[in-house]
Amino acid sequence: MEIKSDFLVIGTGIAGLTFALKAARYGTVSLLSKRSVRESATYYAQGGIASVLSKEDTFDEHIKDTIYAGAGLCDARIVDLVVKDGPARIQELIDRGVKFTSRHNGSATELDLGKEGGHSKRRIVHAEDLTGRAVEEALVSSVEADQNIRIYENHIAIDVITHSKFVGGSGEDSAWGAYALDKTTGEVHTFLAKATVLATGGAGKVYLFTSNPDVATGDGIAMAYRAGADIADMEFIQFHPTCLYHSKAKSFLISEALRGEGGILRLKDGTAFMKGHHRMEDLAPRDIVARAIDFELKKSGDDCVYLDMTHRPAVFIKERFPNIYSKCLEFGIDITATPIPVVPAAHYICGGVRTDVNGETSIKRLYAIGETACTGLHGANRLASNSLLEALVFADKASEDAVRLLKERGAPIPAIPSWETGGAVESEEAVVISQNWDEIRRFMWNYVGIVRSDKRLERAKRRIDLLKSEINEYYWDFKITNNLVELRNIATVAGLIIDSAMQRKESRGLHYNIDYPEKNDRDFLKDTVVNIRERV
Ligand code: FAD
Ligand code: SIN
Repeated sequence: MEIKSDFLVIGTGIAGLTFALKAARYGTVSLLSKRSVRESATYYAQGGIASVLSKEDTFDEHIKDTIYAGAGLCDARIVDLVVKDGPARIQELIDRGVKFTSRHNGSATELDLGKEGGHSKRRIVHAEDLTGRAVEEALVSSVEADQNIRIYENHIAIDVITHSKFVGGSGEDSAWGAYALDKTTGEVHTFLAKATVLATGGAGKVYLFTSNPDVATGDGIAMAYRAGADIADMEFIQFHPTCLYHSKAKSFLISEALRGEGGILRLKDGTAFMKGHHRMEDLAPRDIVARAIDFELKKSGDDCVYLDMTHRPAVFIKERFPNIYSKCLEFGIDITATPIPVVPAAHYICGGVRTDVNGETSIKRLYAIGETACTGLHGANRLASNSLLEALVFADKASEDAVRLLKERGAPIPAIPSWETGGAVESEEAVVISQNWDEIRRFMWNYVGIVRSDKRLERAKRRIDLLKSEINEYYWDFKITNNLVELRNIATVAGLIIDSAMQRKESRGLHYNIDYPEKNDRDFLKDTVVNIRERV
């Protein structure tokens, strides 16, 4: 089937939903989600959204904190734009009905602002510890009520349709939509549009241990790479210091906001170890805290460290963190009385599809927004709670630009062939997919994790090259499935992370290589940019 609209938006987290709502005022929108519309990292976000909303805070301080965390690689122009645009974007969410937690200050009611690692001021607006859910629900309600938006759940985009590949010609390339698998019928549909938006989120599933939901397989990054877009800074993987350590707790995050409210990281014997690692102690930027935990665990041989909140009043903990309190209780941990066992886990990818100030990629008519994008905001390490903020700001910028494009470059969509299945048959060897999937995630965790070395990266490189060629063969021989699409994508993204990490022969922000433990500004004060066209 061929489905035409003005805008094709792939992904229904904060970035895709925000873009869709803004663009729908000017044209029709097809909105794709590979599972249910709500399933996204956004839905699970806990801590909140960073923005300058109090009189005690200033734009300059938020800018300074972001740039300090980014370890020399932030684009100052983008940081300035995002930070200054923040309050207006938060107000839009409030106008849409998001109920952020507020508190009384004398006779006035004001937003309750949380604190997280690397922030010099309280500036995290939140809805208790379920911020993402509150935002996602409000945006989904608005999208569902919008006549100009058609939602396609259980549709997984496979590849971007580029002019060069499907129409021909050379020079500047453009995108005309994407092929997507309808998981219910098994058919591949051709979604055509004048502007295509990748809002597919992150890639945590490339690693064995992650805070991310199962949808985070880096699809947008892999699709953009195959289409010929520039991909940047893939070596900068953020490991969140504190995920719950429990055999039955798959990917449950213990928000940094707990440390913002006085939580202390301790070893098994009770030692508060962050004092010896950074002047900001438990509220140091994430790369430093995650590396400190990794160091302490390797030294002690223990399985986890502990986040201690027991010195705070039980009533405060239950009121401020109701979700974390009740979730931990389900696992038999009363966080008001017992320190929480925690370990680091892959959480966020700072790199991604390189965009300009409007969210447009190096391919015309193709935008990337949210975690899939690399805008220059985060540099080598993202400041806590700057991700939801970036997604809001760039969804806004990209929608303005795509609407302008529609008016100014309104060329008709060319004829595009439908998806070719060729001689592909049903696979009887699904075990190959799960085996390859497990293998990638395990060696990425062991060799391309918090601490890297040249030898580990070389080992990972040998394995990913072999797996990529095996997956490629399998891909063309068998009928396409959701798992096969995702496997191909995590292999592509893993390859990009390894290659980028191998290029950066220094340690900076989230990339730490024991063979080059220092920062090297002379040679590496720049982004790592990869493009498939320069590699073949
Ligand atoms: P997502 O919200 O991940 O949405 C991606 C969407 O794309 C999903 O709908 C998915 O199904 C869809 N999709 C993916 N691939 C395809 C495909 N091939 N075809 C069709 N659909 C596809 N950041 C903060 O700033 N503050 C926080 O407090 C915070 N807490 C977090 C807590 C957790 C547990 C996690 C995991 C992350 C947290 N983050 C936080 C990070 C932040 O939530 C994410 O970076 C952000 O939500 C990403 O939004 P997004 O719209 O880019 O992607
Ligand atoms: C958290 O709540 O700790 C997550 C915040 C973030 O990822 O920005």
